[in-house]
Amino acid sequence: MEPFKFGCIVADEHYCERPSLEKEVRRYVAGGQNLVIQGERRRGKSSLVVKSVRGIRGMGLLYVDLLGITSAADFCRRVADGMSELDRSRSFLQKTAALLASLRPLVVIDRDTGLPAISIDSRSASDPSSILTVMNMIAAHARERRICVVFDEFQDILDIPDSKRVLSELRGKIQFMADTSFVFLGSVRNQMSEIFAHPKSPFFKSALEISIGEMSDESFVKFILARFTAAKRVADADFVRKLIADLDGVPGDIQELCDALWSVTEAGDCVNDANLDAAYRHIFAHEGSSYETYIRLLTRHQRKILGALAAVGGKHVSSNDFLDASGCHNASSVKKALLRLDALGHIYQLRGEWKFASPFFCEWLRRKMV
Ligand SMILES: Nc1ncnc2c1ncn2[C@@H]1O[C@H](COP(=O)(O)OP(=O)(O)OP(=O)(O)O)[C@@H](O)[C@H]1O
Ligand SMILES: [Mg+2]
Repeated sequence: MEPFKFGCIVADEHYCERPSLEKEVRRYVAGGQNLVIQGERRRGKSSLVVKSVRGIRGMGLLYVDLLGITSAADFCRRVADGMSELDRSRSFLQKTAALLASLRPLVVIDRDTGLPAISIDSRSASDPSSILTVMNMIAAHARERRICVVFDEFQDILDIPDSKRVLSELRGKIQFMADTSFVFLGSVRNQMSEIFAHPKSPFFKSALEISIGEMSDESFVKFILARFTAAKRVADADFVRKLIADLDGVPGDIQELCDALWSVTEAGDCVNDANLDAAYRHIFAHEGSSYETYIRLLTRHQRKILGALAAVGGKHVSSNDFLDASGCHNASSVKKALLRLDALGHIYQLRGEWKFASPFFCEWLRRKMV
């Protein structure tokens, strides 16, 4: 079995405990408090919430992934999927179907999993008012059992037609479900702020915010060492500490690089600096073509700015070092390119420093330049 996992929600032996954050989430969720959890990509938001809610005795988890949602009907379908995951018992699914009667639901056997599930008719659910039907269904269940509703990638709701109406229908219902905790997870800071921090948004100040930071403490070092040991690799703590620091404590990136280190070594091998080059090449073999596409879609000027960022880092983007590396001495044009690269999702700013969204893309660029 693979010792490291990345790009998905992790649990069990792939999950390193985050006791104080888990405790905080559990306390608020158990008390019916709504939460908004924002953070940059791959920080472990989804895994943390799923793990924390599952740890509350008697609490059901209704997990609804809104990534790439396209319409109100799609929203209803995804809630129906979440309900099927919450409880597969026939009585629960039949009750859910009865509560969704106007959306013409069916209890079917899911073709992928072979398990019973609720399916709803997209045409019947196409009007934004169908959201009310779905929310009323959740409220009816929540009167009988404790449920925490998690809306993951919540900001994607802004992209559907009629999103304003959908948001206000949702908010209208949620505010009357005082005993039920809704947890909103989002990755794109600005868009999440638009929903929760904009005075004109129906969700303005409606949920308590929790931020998720890096994972770089000793318990994560021990966790990574234990995963290497389970995979019959020998690693030393200082090497792992350095690797975690180099990747800014981002657990998704760290697990990806460790997976690559595991892939390029054999049972009994030591894992150390000497394997890093092969590990990066392993990652580039999978991701290099995407990086080439990103580069092709940039202007020459943007490429140069990105190259300078890879070469000298993004702490001082108006320094002579940076301007020399980019070959552009016009500070406002540098800033414009940085903002565009940010909008494209390639870079972001953290505590005043510009950083690559993917450290592997940064390393790939660095190697291209020599
Ligand atoms: N507690 C943890 N212990 C170990 N690894 C973790 C932990 N949390 C996250 N990871 C690593 O990070 C990856 C991404 O986790 P997760 O999907 O929970 O993060 P996220 O912040 O929700 O990401 P995204 O922004 O892409 O939705 C996981 O696949 C795993 O490799
Ligand atoms: Mg997530």
